[in-house]
Amino acid sequence: MTTATLTTHAQRRDAPIHADQAWSLAPDDATRHALARLQAELGDLFTVTDPRSGATHWVINDPALVQQVLVRQADAYTKGLGLDRVKILLGNGIMVSEGDFWIRQRRLMQPAFRPQRLADHNAMILAENERLSERWHRAADAARAVDAAADVSELILVIVLRAIFGPDYDTLVEAGANPFSLLTEEPTRDLRFAARFHGLKKTVGTIIDARLARDEPRFDFLGQLMTANGRDGQTMDRAALIDEVMTLIVAGHETTASALAFAWYLIATHPDIRARLQAEADGCDRAKLAATGGHDDPGLALTDRVIAETLRLYPPGWLLSRRARYDHSLGGYPIAAGTQLVICPWLLHRHPAYWHAPDVFDPDRFLAARKPSRHAAFVPFAAGPRHCIGEHLAWAEMRLHLVSQLARFTPEWAGNGPPDLEAGINLRPAGTMPLQLRAR
Ligand code: HEM
Repeated sequence: MTTATLTTHAQRRDAPIHADQAWSLAPDDATRHALARLQAELGDLFTVTDPRSGATHWVINDPALVQQVLVRQADAYTKGLGLDRVKILLGNGIMVSEGDFWIRQRRLMQPAFRPQRLADHNAMILAENERLSERWHRAADAARAVDAAADVSELILVIVLRAIFGPDYDTLVEAGANPFSLLTEEPTRDLRFAARFHGLKKTVGTIIDARLARDEPRFDFLGQLMTANGRDGQTMDRAALIDEVMTLIVAGHETTASALAFAWYLIATHPDIRARLQAEADGCDRAKLAATGGHDDPGLALTDRVIAETLRLYPPGWLLSRRARYDHSLGGYPIAAGTQLVICPWLLHRHPAYWHAPDVFDPDRFLAARKPSRHAAFVPFAAGPRHCIGEHLAWAEMRLHLVSQLARFTPEWAGNGPPDLEAGINLRPAGTMPLQLRAR
């Protein structure tokens, strides 16, 4: 696609401003740059023609309209075109399913994600961080830089797999190499990846069958999903269980890992913030941390602001897509059933009208907000009925990781300049995140 000069129509009364240049909206870097350019020229609501289908797509970056689409009028939308690629991986899991089936699955899964239940995973998360600290200590002693992107990706994968499979994770690994490690080893999310990932469904099916044969209750995610009972007495069948497990692995791994990789870059390049975070980590009550995951702990307020600020600057879910279910109006304009919409948290989170010095890393900008999630231009976990089911777990994983490691190490950025970005289904670092660690 060329970077042809764009001209705009004068805004008509019956439709949003339309971009003269056609653009295929896709989860990629070209689209990320094109959307930034188009927003600067056309504003917070515009339409663009998809050259492949000739269809008109709406791009929304006005916080009030974003809230309308995600929350107030959520019923008027299904997930959109951007999720089609994801469907190849996730079958009919809750990330992509719709209607009554989605409602039933979400209700069956929700209890496993309540903060009280999630507390059961904290000891495991801390133990995995302990293992990582040992490796990082060896690197620090040898004055060898670590790649924080690769290391947190591995850490988060193990945490997600242990949270889902409990002790079966050990059996899986003992039986040979971890079959899920392709998530950390294979950087491209193409059809070849999809085919290999698809093969893992067999592994998940085998674990489910073995559990059914043993009939012993388990309290990991899989165990809770297998025994989940709806109000109507319905349970999940084997195919649905497999799709939901695959969904949790995909949705829970790269998102959290990318956020933490970016957090390390930001922390390592801001020594003043780093020192304040370390003071917070040093004063943290470990027993309380293990019991609560640090939720709503005023003693970890800066850690939470740093996580929020990282998610603002580098939202892993950088592009959300929706499709209108029926004719209705949006922003005073008629929008037809079937219309595709995109919301770009990457742009919304750096919108100069809603954020002072938007490109600057300033965790204290959230001091005034009782909760960052109350900010209408802040949607790292989306909002409304389809908001991230794993948000509490993700916060606990990120907090426990940063507190554990910052109490032990002082990171220094060992890269040449800021990290390159790669916008795919998720926004992630394009290369390594080199850190020189000093043991404290
Ligand atoms: C920093 C970490 C995370 C971020 C930024 C994040 C972000 C998001 C976003 C933006 C959505 C909405 C997508 C859309 O509306 O199209 C979403 C949905 C979802 N997330 Fe997360 N996520 C994170 C961690 C997790 C974790 C740890 C899990 C589970 C282990 C998880 C599971 C899901 C699922 C299942 C959905 C679909 C929910 C539904 O449609 O009902 N996420 N996430």
